[in-house]
Amino acid sequence: MKTALVILAAGKGTRMNSDLPKVLHPLAGAPLLIHAMRAGETLTPEHTVIVAGHGAQAVRGAALDYDGTATVVQQTEQLGTAHAAAQARAALARFDGTAIVLFGDTPFVSPDTLAAMTDAQADHDVVVLGFQAANPGRYGRLVMEGDSLQRIVEFKDATEDERAIALCNSGVMACRAGLLFDLIDAVSNENAAGEYYLTEIIGLARDRGLSATVVTCDEAETLGINTRAELAEAEMSFQNRARAHAAEEGVTMPAPQTVHFAFDTVIGRDTVIEPNVVFGPGVTVESGATIRAFSHLEGCHVARGAVVGPYARLRPGAELSEDTRIGNFVEVKNARIGEGSKVNHLSYIGDATIGQHSNIGAGTVTCNYDGVMKHHTEIGDNVFIGSDTMLVAPVSIGDGAMTGSGSVITSDVEAGALAIARAPQVEKPGMAAKLIQILKAKKAKLQRGS
Ligand code: UD1
Ligand code: CA
Repeated sequence: MKTALVILAAGKGTRMNSDLPKVLHPLAGAPLLIHAMRAGETLTPEHTVIVAGHGAQAVRGAALDYDGTATVVQQTEQLGTAHAAAQARAALARFDGTAIVLFGDTPFVSPDTLAAMTDAQADHDVVVLGFQAANPGRYGRLVMEGDSLQRIVEFKDATEDERAIALCNSGVMACRAGLLFDLIDAVSNENAAGEYYLTEIIGLARDRGLSATVVTCDEAETLGINTRAELAEAEMSFQNRARAHAAEEGVTMPAPQTVHFAFDTVIGRDTVIEPNVVFGPGVTVESGATIRAFSHLEGCHVARGAVVGPYARLRPGAELSEDTRIGNFVEVKNARIGEGSKVNHLSYIGDATIGQHSNIGAGTVTCNYDGVMKHHTEIGDNVFIGSDTMLVAPVSIGDGAMTGSGSVITSDVEAGALAIARAPQVEKPGMAAKLIQILKAKKAKLQRGS
């Protein structure tokens, strides 16, 4: 079945008390909006239309950044959810499949639930995603007659009896696109809020003898974010699910509550993640790796058998091959570390390629930035870089070469060579004691003078 997504994301999110549009607040390393887009993506929609309003420029940027084929339309005045959905009409003018309306501030709707909705849409004109609310609060209430949905009544407009209904509207709807826009045309704003409610289309559809039904899901999926407190709660529930999922997938975590995942983290089986590890977006870790305590990883790939940390930082573009070692206080950015190579202590490796079985000594720095441009460092196989070597890029070190500790390497080193670039050592016998005498005499003179 052909589907199109319409994601409503124009609201201000006043209760976030923020300069950032609500849908751009991050959850597990991605804006809320991206979570909604990812959920919808599982239906392989023909069109994705984002309705932006508050902070439209920024919302457009984030949406297109994630999916360059999305269409972002603007709702200049926020007159209600029906008015928002209506803004997608032109973008879907030639589309004749099912439109799925999602909210940009509702990040957890599952692929299975969306699939159940499109299935139900085959037999009903309008399908609404509902849930049994533990505390129905201000949600819209679903008025049922058997399996048939009669109408949705907003809290503000509901009678006492209707407010007693616990079956609530999540906001997600499925309906043939043409019919959706027809029904929206008939929506009025004569209600307590003076808004054009999308929820009104159910009553309108029933009046025309069309059918409407409800698909239900767990309340956790329909969690909408309105405040920073709710955002923090959503983050917590995301993290708990991600931890449980990782454990099921065969990942060992002695202190799972201290491990933070991103929306897209992928961890292989029999990998160990020690306490207090943080994953930013874009990380994949293969099987049998070890990520030791207090490490921070983002935009990187860790191959089988690698050991990272404790206290390591892998930044975007770090590519660790099998059985590599990245030790404490080592930062790696945009660099490929070849199989079996080690960078064990206090180093910065940025914009570099390191071959296989090379050893990078403590305190090595690839000096990649000249203040204006970034330059590349190339290190071959079986290289030994002495401690405290400064590799001033662009520079390359041939296979099997060595550098002396404390060297500042400014030109290429050929394969097999030893390069030493430091001031030669000078030794003055007996001078240490004499120097102390001289310094003590100076201090005494200064103290007499004051
Ligand atoms: C809506 C539903 C309610 C449901 C609840 C679930 C309506 C009338 N009510 O209420 O039945 O229980 O969600 O959370 O639909 N938006 C726009 N433009 C607008 C208005 C809203 O883009 O003019 C967007 C918002 O950014 C948000 C979504 O639509 O992403 C929902 O709007 P919101 O005002 O939060 O609706 P609720 O009052 O929560
Ligand atoms: Ca809301």
